[in-house]
Amino acid sequence: MQIVKTVEEILKQKDLSKDDIIQLLQTDKTERNLIYNRSANIKEQYVGKKAYYRGLIEFSNICNKNCYYCGIRAGNKNQVRYNLSDVDIINAAKFAYENKYGSIVLQSGEREDKKFINRVDNLLKKIKQLSNNELGITISLGEQTEETYRRWFESGAHRYLLRIESSTKELFEKIHPANKKHSFERRLECLHLLQKTGYQTGTGVMIGLPFQDYGHLADDLLFFKDFDIDMVGMGPYIEHKETPLYQYHNTLLPLEERFNLSLKMIAILRIIMKDINIASATALQTIDPAGREKAIKIGANVIMPNITPTIHRTNYQLYENKPCIDEGANDCSNCMEARIHLAGDEVGFGEWGDSKHYYKRQNIKVKD
Ligand code: 5AD
Ligand code: SF4
Ligand code: FES
Repeated sequence: MQIVKTVEEILKQKDLSKDDIIQLLQTDKTERNLIYNRSANIKEQYVGKKAYYRGLIEFSNICNKNCYYCGIRAGNKNQVRYNLSDVDIINAAKFAYENKYGSIVLQSGEREDKKFINRVDNLLKKIKQLSNNELGITISLGEQTEETYRRWFESGAHRYLLRIESSTKELFEKIHPANKKHSFERRLECLHLLQKTGYQTGTGVMIGLPFQDYGHLADDLLFFKDFDIDMVGMGPYIEHKETPLYQYHNTLLPLEERFNLSLKMIAILRIIMKDINIASATALQTIDPAGREKAIKIGANVIMPNITPTIHRTNYQLYENKPCIDEGANDCSNCMEARIHLAGDEVGFGEWGDSKHYYKRQNIKVKD
């Protein structure tokens, strides 16, 4: 006979099994709130009621890849392409520094050519210089060689985001073209290389993808734990008309359910990985205007105000209805601080807000 556990009983356990996680992911209303209360307490206890800024600079939408879900994929010929000048990127970094952001994220479409690699290298050094080494730099520039990862690390990047998108190989392969450029094994290998190089390593998945079920999502959370990941950014999948996955839009969960499932994923992750950094994904705000503060309330502790120059923002729509398209860096800054206060947190101004988990993993004493 199978013993049925209550949500309270599951939440009292030290470790959660795949079945436990599936049960938690299926909760509704009152039971869901039990999970949120627990995750909010753990957040307060382990990482504090603080949210850290990462000023996001989406510096180019030129991409070599063809991920089936993404609006800026190479195959989308209707997409106007842009590449910010070095001056624009440096100015955005200065804005972040002067406004005490603590850190920035440099993100773009994926390129592996020499010109691109050298350019990023040079930008990293310049940004470190202009900020007296004070600005933390996260990069999110896809799959690269070990040599490139090392070079960028030595030039000043100390965190790297590379989403696994789905930790289930079969699902990963359904949402990417079947060729060497989009290989699940290579993605995994790159994540290993990033850890080996010494980066605080971040990954994540999309929630509510076609073909995805609760079992896949439970496996994703267990994958983050097994991999001993330092940071996670995950959010709802949002369909984009000009992509191949759009043909399945009728099979998707309603947006509200994708949103609730994303919040539950964040809360359960906080419960199973207490001291990591968890980002409140921008895509949450596409579904619910208060989406990002809700995530902060129940466990996320990192938020990425967009500081890309406004004229380029319309062209970095990985998904439709992305928020903050018409706002400037100042607007997002002020708006974000208000949002974080609404969630009951303080902004960690001028701090790097590193992943405590990373230091524990390296056996380095954490500074408080
Ligand atoms: N919906 C939600 N997230 C998306 N991403 C790309 N396309 C979409 C979409 N349609 C996410 C991917 C990628 C990150 C930069 O943006 O997870 O890793
Ligand atoms: Fe390119 Fe990233 Fe979009 Fe894939 S998800 S097409 S790598 S920008
Ligand atoms: Fe961009 Fe609110 S965060 S306008």
